[in-house]
Amino acid sequence: MAFPTLPITLTCLTVLVFLSIAMAAANDSMDSGLVLLNCGESKQDNDSSGRMWDGDTGSKFMTSFKGVAANASYQDPSLPSMVPYMSARIFTSNYTYSFPVNPGRMFLRLYFYPISYGNYTMSDAFFGVTLGNLVLLNSFNASQTAQAANYAYLVREFSVYISSHSLDITFAPSAHQNSSYAFVNGIEIVPTPDIFTTADTIFVHHDYIAPFTFAANTGFQTMYRFNVGGQAISPENDSGFYRLWADDSPYIFGASSGVTYSKDNNVTIRYTPVVPKYIAPLDVYGTARSMGPTAQVNLNYNLTWILPVDAGFIYLLRFHFCEIQYPITKENQRTFYIYINNQTAQWAMDVISLSGGLGRTSYRDYIIMARGSGQVDMWIALHPDISTKPCYVDAILNGLEVFKLQGHEPNNLAGINPPLQQNPDAEPKRVPGGARKSKSGLPVAIAGGFALMLIALFSMCVICRRKKVRKSSCKTNNGHLNHPACDLLRQFSFSQIQIATNDFDEELIIGRGGFGNVYSGEIDGGTKVAIKRLNQESQQGSHEFQAEIEMLCNIRHGHLVSLIGYCQDNNEMILVYDYMAHGTLREHLYNTQNSPLSWRRRLEICIGAARGLHYLHTGTETGIIHRDVKTSNILLDERFMAKVSDFGLSKAFPAIDNTHVSTAVKGTFGYFDPEYFLLRRLTKKSDVYSFGVMLFEILCARPVINTELPDEQVSLRDWALYCQERGVLEEIVDPCVKDEITPECFSIFAELAEKCVADRSMDRPTMGDVLQNLEVALRLQDNNNCVGRPSSLQIIGMHSDKPSTHSIISVAAQGEIFSDIIHLEGR
Ligand SMILES: *[C@@H]1O[C@H](CO)[C@@H](O)[C@H](O)[C@H]1NC(C)=O
Ligand SMILES: *[C@@H]1O[C@H](CO)[C@@H](O)[C@H](O)[C@H]1NC(C)=O
Ligand SMILES: *[C@@H]1O[C@H](CO)[C@@H](O)[C@H](O)[C@H]1NC(C)=O
Ligand SMILES: *[C@@H]1O[C@H](CO)[C@@H](O)[C@H](O)[C@H]1NC(C)=O
Ligand SMILES: *[C@@H]1O[C@H](CO)[C@@H](O)[C@H](O)[C@H]1NC(C)=O
Ligand SMILES: *[C@@H]1O[C@H](CO)[C@@H](O)[C@H](O)[C@H]1NC(C)=O
Ligand SMILES: *[C@@H]1O[C@H](CO)[C@@H](O)[C@H](O)[C@H]1NC(C)=O
Ligand SMILES: *[C@@H]1O[C@H](CO)[C@@H](O)[C@H](O)[C@H]1NC(C)=O
Ligand SMILES: *[C@@H]1O[C@H](CO)[C@@H](O)[C@H](O)[C@H]1NC(C)=O
Ligand SMILES: *[C@@H]1O[C@H](CO)[C@@H](O)[C@H](O)[C@H]1NC(C)=O
Ligand SMILES: *[C@@H]1O[C@H](CO)[C@@H](O)[C@H](O)[C@H]1NC(C)=O
Repeated sequence: MAFPTLPITLTCLTVLVFLSIAMAAANDSMDSGLVLLNCGESKQDNDSSGRMWDGDTGSKFMTSFKGVAANASYQDPSLPSMVPYMSARIFTSNYTYSFPVNPGRMFLRLYFYPISYGNYTMSDAFFGVTLGNLVLLNSFNASQTAQAANYAYLVREFSVYISSHSLDITFAPSAHQNSSYAFVNGIEIVPTPDIFTTADTIFVHHDYIAPFTFAANTGFQTMYRFNVGGQAISPENDSGFYRLWADDSPYIFGASSGVTYSKDNNVTIRYTPVVPKYIAPLDVYGTARSMGPTAQVNLNYNLTWILPVDAGFIYLLRFHFCEIQYPITKENQRTFYIYINNQTAQWAMDVISLSGGLGRTSYRDYIIMARGSGQVDMWIALHPDISTKPCYVDAILNGLEVFKLQGHEPNNLAGINPPLQQNPDAEPKRVPGGARKSKSGLPVAIAGGFALMLIALFSMCVICRRKKVRKSSCKTNNGHLNHPACDLLRQFSFSQIQIATNDFDEELIIGRGGFGNVYSGEIDGGTKVAIKRLNQESQQGSHEFQAEIEMLCNIRHGHLVSLIGYCQDNNEMILVYDYMAHGTLREHLYNTQNSPLSWRRRLEICIGAARGLHYLHTGTETGIIHRDVKTSNILLDERFMAKVSDFGLSKAFPAIDNTHVSTAVKGTFGYFDPEYFLLRRLTKKSDVYSFGVMLFEILCARPVINTELPDEQVSLRDWALYCQERGVLEEIVDPCVKDEITPECFSIFAELAEKCVADRSMDRPTMGDVLQNLEVALRLQDNNNCVGRPSSLQIIGMHSDKPSTHSIISVAAQGEIFSDIIHLEGR
């Protein structure tokens, strides 16, 4: 469990910040925070699109008069405007511009026209640019960079977070060159809301995909921004931030460039609450590129873009999607893969399902590490995914942005100067047509620290935007629980809880989590209980707390931890549970003083946990998805009987705003169902996936993620599958139980775990199947000489039921759940 509060708060802030900025941006004055500075000029002047630039000479941003104002010696015909390119400020020693700003995120754009300025020759321009301690450009040779891009001028765009009231940007001539100088033609600052923190950003790795967050103050450099399948959109026609959206066609790989098209006349494109206007102008969504009309052709190629980037950095790729033509109006009409650097970033992408309908906007963020050195190619490809049997064998993309993320050691966004091409005509497709193309690369030694960073990032939760389907089954009445079954629950006063826990004695803490601490305590003069005190700052409101209790009070099962009562005095939210003498299952597996559990005991625990989950899935009126199945949520009582804990609480997380209903879901890295965040699809099979990871964890007695191990072993699930495929899974089995497991039991157990962690939910068994197979495994363990066993073991009951898109599935109440109805033997 982690900090679900953070993303929620950020989202709320985003909305607020956006409102204020949107209002301010309407007032196109300095007070809105917008800065347009024409360097080397003394008076105000307009650029060709009518935007007014201030001269820097004697302006409030030049605190001391320094540097030389100079005019360009030549006006290149391809310059879009005289202002700001034709004048420059030249520095032969370090100089810092200080701009008063409101703290927050903003675009910073630097304009460079590399040409001779008076006595200053183009080839001597060689310098660095820093923003506080963040290096934006290092040993920057503007003429080489522009030449490599085959362009007369350069615009470098950064998105930075400034926490103070001053944005200080320093130009420093290179010390390695005697006559070197720094120059700049224009500086633009555009305040923005937090456009990067989104609900779910997906990290794409060789072997897995996982949710990702980055620090709110991370610096970004825009590498590419495309209006895919359409014409370039000028800064004036952007939705507020003066971004340029270039044509993507120069970057398409090979001869198959798909087809471009624009929206049907009778389709109206509308922003959705999760895609506010500032994310991209409607024109971006109004045009698209798809693969083409012929299914067979599409199946035989990938629609591919190749984008040169600097190696050694992490990149954020934002894909903009919108279906804009009839007849694609329903889910599962067009589904496709997204590959980034030949790795599957997404399968079954369904734009209608993501956006909510024809003409609705949407986007998706992916994170990838660019390995190698110098400049490397980033491959982005689309291909139809026909596993879901869509009507159209095709893919679509409307817009694409690629951002480079700040490296941390050192704080750096700068790459190396791009190599000049020997023969510029050799690759005519690479010449950007109106694109701002930045080319540079510096291998920064962040790869090592990367795994570490990931793990820090991953002890977190995701917010999935989902339809909120849960309705409390009980009604509340004036704050009092009002449901017959809830009579079973006791209401404790705060003082009773204080007595039970010795006034929340630190010594009595038996668990700490995102929701608060868990204390052991005693009630009724000796009965041991576990008391969970929710953090005051926890997002859980008292209303949700009550709804939760009402739900929990209806769930009773021998393999679920029972709620005994609760306390809601003093604005406290406290839950009282059965005490579990042996703590969590995890504490008996590794990094522990506890003696190892026998294999048979482990099997029994698996079966108990499976029973509890099976009951949650099918035995309750609506069916409940646990969402955070892991060994630390399986508790053991004094007889080592497994009880599933921590179900339900997650579901009552408050909707964060009224514009769109969303619910925070928690989960733990390493146990995540990839479809959980790829498809925003939470099903009971998500629990099955986590359960499968847990089976491997129990078998191998190691953490599901261990970053100290070599790369291929970091993820237990991936490592176990790799070993299983090569038939050497035994080698990583916990040595304490290795000799105890019978081969038959081992084989069914391993096969079951493997099936549970299948990438696609439709390939996983149900919890009922899991339970039956575990029971068979136990029998095979006990009667290892059993003769009546079928010669070939099949995972019984394995059928692919359709995954539901709803988080809680209505199933008929099934009364008591008995798992041991069917056994292989005797059939
Ligand atoms: C724009 O800013 C100016 C200068 O502060 C102010 O006088 C004016 O009222 C503002 N206009 C709007 C529409 O906010
Ligand atoms: C710049 O444009 C503004 C209107 O946007 C106009 O009022 C002003 O006169 C123009 N200035 C110059 C120097 O052309
Ligand atoms: C640059 O040219 C403008 C006229 O185009 C002139 O007013 C200004 O003085 C020149 N600046 C310098 C530094 O020569
Ligand atoms: C260029 O250099 C010459 C000789 O060093 C000097 O006389 C002249 O003033 C310089 N011009 C500028 C614009 O700096
Ligand atoms: C910058 O690059 C150009 C090639 O475009 C080269 O001629 C020049 O010497 C370089 N300048 C420095 C300071 O390296
Ligand atoms: C100029 O700035 C650079 C980079 O910020 C720094 O390394 C250098 O020491 C500075 N030089 C002086 C003279 O302050
Ligand atoms: C810089 O100038 C000094 C003396 O003026 C000279 O010794 C040195 O080699 C020069 N360095 C470069 C990189 O040109
Ligand atoms: C902005 O969009 C309008 C309408 O689409 C178009 O007429 C105009 O030329 C565009 N402006 C620029 C600078 O491209
Ligand atoms: C919208 O227009 C397209 C073709 O332009 C047509 O195929 C489709 O039936 C129209 N849809 C509606 C609802 O009018
Ligand atoms: C992706 O695969 C292609 C073709 O197999 C290969 O040429 C290319 O280098 C690969 N790209 C990356 C980033 O690995
Ligand atoms: C498309 O790209 C993926 C990932 O690189 C690759 O596995 C697949 O073979 C490609 N398909 C075609 C038809 O080129």
